[in-house]
Amino acid sequence: MSYSDATVAAATEFGPQVRRVMLEKQSEIRIQVPQISALKLRVLHGKVEIFGSELPRNTWLTFPPLQQFAVFTWYGATFEIDGVTETDTISDETPMISYLNVHNSLQVQRHRVTSSTRDYDSSQGPRVIIVGDTDSGKSTLAKMLLSWAAKDGCKPTFVDLNIGQSSITIPGTIAATSVEMPVDPVEGLPLHKALVHYFGHNTATNNVRLYKYLVEELARELEEEFAINAESRRSGMVIDTMGWTSGLGYQLLLHAIRTFNASLVIVLGQETELVYDLNKAFKFKKNVQILNLERSSGVFSRFSDFRKMLRNISIQRYFSGATNNLTAYTKTAKFTDMQVYRIGALLEKSRSTEPLRITPVLIDKDLVNTVLAISYAKQPHHIISSIVAGFVYITDVDLGEERITYLSPSAAELPSKIFIMGTLTWHKT
Ligand SMILES: Nc1ncnc2c1ncn2[C@@H]1O[C@H](COP(=O)(O)OP(=O)(O)OP(=O)(O)O)[C@@H](O)[C@H]1O
Ligand SMILES: [Mg+2]
Repeated sequence: MSYSDATVAAATEFGPQVRRVMLEKQSEIRIQVPQISALKLRVLHGKVEIFGSELPRNTWLTFPPLQQFAVFTWYGATFEIDGVTETDTISDETPMISYLNVHNSLQVQRHRVTSSTRDYDSSQGPRVIIVGDTDSGKSTLAKMLLSWAAKDGCKPTFVDLNIGQSSITIPGTIAATSVEMPVDPVEGLPLHKALVHYFGHNTATNNVRLYKYLVEELARELEEEFAINAESRRSGMVIDTMGWTSGLGYQLLLHAIRTFNASLVIVLGQETELVYDLNKAFKFKKNVQILNLERSSGVFSRFSDFRKMLRNISIQRYFSGATNNLTAYTKTAKFTDMQVYRIGALLEKSRSTEPLRITPVLIDKDLVNTVLAISYAKQPHHIISSIVAGFVYITDVDLGEERITYLSPSAAELPSKIFIMGTLTWHKT
């Protein structure tokens, strides 16, 4: 069987919206939650995974509007869905076996590392970078590899270089986090211990030099962490990238592969030219392997308006939680309590050798609706190399009273006076 309508037993005894779904072994149901309502799901029999993370049995899980996901089973399962779906399709044509094979070979490498000598280089675990077109399933495969590794007791580091559709926190960020538990299918990746740099734009072309600088900065920070943390070092990295694979986008991929010393480049989808170019570029590098894997036909294609909406939702989730379970606080600050800076010029010349300029931003009404990062920098000239503590959203600027009103995810005092502004705005709904 390939595509079919879901094997759904519309069972009236469960109420009009509860349906029972039976999945055969190695098949999945691909679901899109509608925009207007959430969807609940409960496993009754068997084991199911959402992108590598096993769901608990007999527990209702709530998936927020617009979430797209697949519920997959290796050996067959039955579960219930409560609510309407935008789409749901069952398929047993999935590339899951090839994805699991990659995981198994990464585990072999991780185990080899533990039992090998103590010298630094041979105690490095695999560093996987996933590349491919937009909507090829890169972030999904990254979640699977991370969740399976965490389930097997490893602590891989997830590195997110995709500033357009970020997975760790809001868009416009370059970030990394250690994954110690399978990725929560509703809440996503853990944010509390993440290293987050604020690029401030959702396209790299706005400031290619800054993008490269932040990628290098993050790689340096992770090398420092790996030098003192043998467990993270052995577990390695899974690196997610932008879906921009030609021209400058390709150069940025090469830059990321080299900067993070990737050992395995996974190319998702039918990318003959990209695979050819990468093989050529790393022909003499024995320690870099290029692997082309099939794109799942379940991956949803997201048009530019939908992507924009997802960016907005991602910011909303930062302040209010995935299921509106967090409180955001409206607070005010005096103009003198906030120093706002921009990094570099818009459309910074990528070949310029001058240091990136840090420019103070005048506090005025233009700040309204912008999202600012709170930098840990003590001095403005440390902004570029400093990670950020979090974000605030500016809701009002009162020029007469010289006060700024902002939304914060925390009731605590601001950890710093130094803020970074990019081009990221939020249209709060
Ligand atoms: N097998 C599947 N069934 C249903 N939905 C899926 C499946 N695989 C991926 N998706 C969904 O398809 C969408 C796109 O997938 P994903 O985010 O992994 O692509 P991507 O290559 O990372 O895209 P981008 O280049 O924009 O970052 C996501 O919403 C994801 O949850
Ligand atoms: Mg992605």
